[in-house]
Amino acid sequence: MRVLEAKEVTTGYGDVEIIKNIELYVNDGEIVAIFGSNGSGKSTFLKAVAGLVPLWNGTLHFGSERIDELPAYERVKRGVALAPEGRHLFLGMSVEENLLMGAWTKRDRVKQNLDKVYGYFPQLKEKRGSLAGDLSGGQQQMLSIGKALMSEPKLLMIDELSLGLAPAVVDSLAQILTRINREEGISMLLVEQEVSLALEISNRAYVFDLGRVVDSGRSDELIKRDSIRKTYMGLA
Ligand SMILES: Nc1ncnc2c1ncn2[C@@H]1O[C@H](COP(=O)(O)OP(=O)(O)O)[C@@H](O)[C@H]1O
Ligand SMILES: [Mg+2]
Repeated sequence: MRVLEAKEVTTGYGDVEIIKNIELYVNDGEIVAIFGSNGSGKSTFLKAVAGLVPLWNGTLHFGSERIDELPAYERVKRGVALAPEGRHLFLGMSVEENLLMGAWTKRDRVKQNLDKVYGYFPQLKEKRGSLAGDLSGGQQQMLSIGKALMSEPKLLMIDELSLGLAPAVVDSLAQILTRINREEGISMLLVEQEVSLALEISNRAYVFDLGRVVDSGRSDELIKRDSIRKTYMGLA
C-alpha cells in the first residue's frame, strides 16, 4: 500500500512553472528522500503535498483517497504533516505551547502525544517552559518535528533536516527519526541537502533537477552509483 502517490504533479508561483510532471510515491512505512540542487523545486513539491500551493495539473493520493483538492487543514487531519524549511516556530512562545499548536487535530490525545514527543526528545522536556527562541538550532529542529508529531501523522515530511546544524546533532536527529519510523510506523519524506545522509537514512530516493525528477531508485543502489557520487557527493 502506498501512503502517498503523486502523478504528473505540476505547479508554480504566479505564472512561473516550477515543478513539472513529478511522479513520486511513498510506500507504507518507508523513508523516502528527495535531493537535488538549490531551486530545483523540492520545497515546492512538499508544499504541494501539504496543500500550501495548489496543483496546476496532476493528482495526489493519500492512501486510497485523492487529496489534491482538499485544503491544507483537511490533509493534516488525514495524517499529512510538514516540518517546513525555516521551521516556522512561534519563537516568543514556550516549547510546550509550540507543541500544543501542533495538536489541534488530536485534542483528545494531547497528554499521550506530549509524553511521546518528550520520550523521543528529552531535551524538549527539560526545556518545556523555555521560549522556543532561546533553543539551539538542533533543539528548534526537534521542536519542529515534535510539533508535526503532535498531529499523529501517517506521513511526516521534513524540509532540510540538517540545514545549519552541527554534524553530531544531525546524526542524533537521524537516529531518532529512524526510531520513530520503526516504532510508530510513520512514513517519511525528507528533503535533505546532505546527500550521503539522505541516502543512509532512506529506503529510496528521488533526484530533482530544474523541477523534474531526473533519477530515482533504492538508496543502497544510488549511493554506489558513480554519477551520483560525483555530482552530489563530491566523490570520485
Ligand atoms: N513563494 C514563491 N514565489 C515565487 N517563486 C518562488 C517561491 N518559492 C520558491 N520560488 C522559486 O521556485 C523555485 C524552486 O524553489 P524551491 O521549491 O524552494 O526549491 P528547492 O527547495 O529545491 O531549493 C526557485 O526558483 C524559487 O526562486
Ligand atoms: Mg528548499
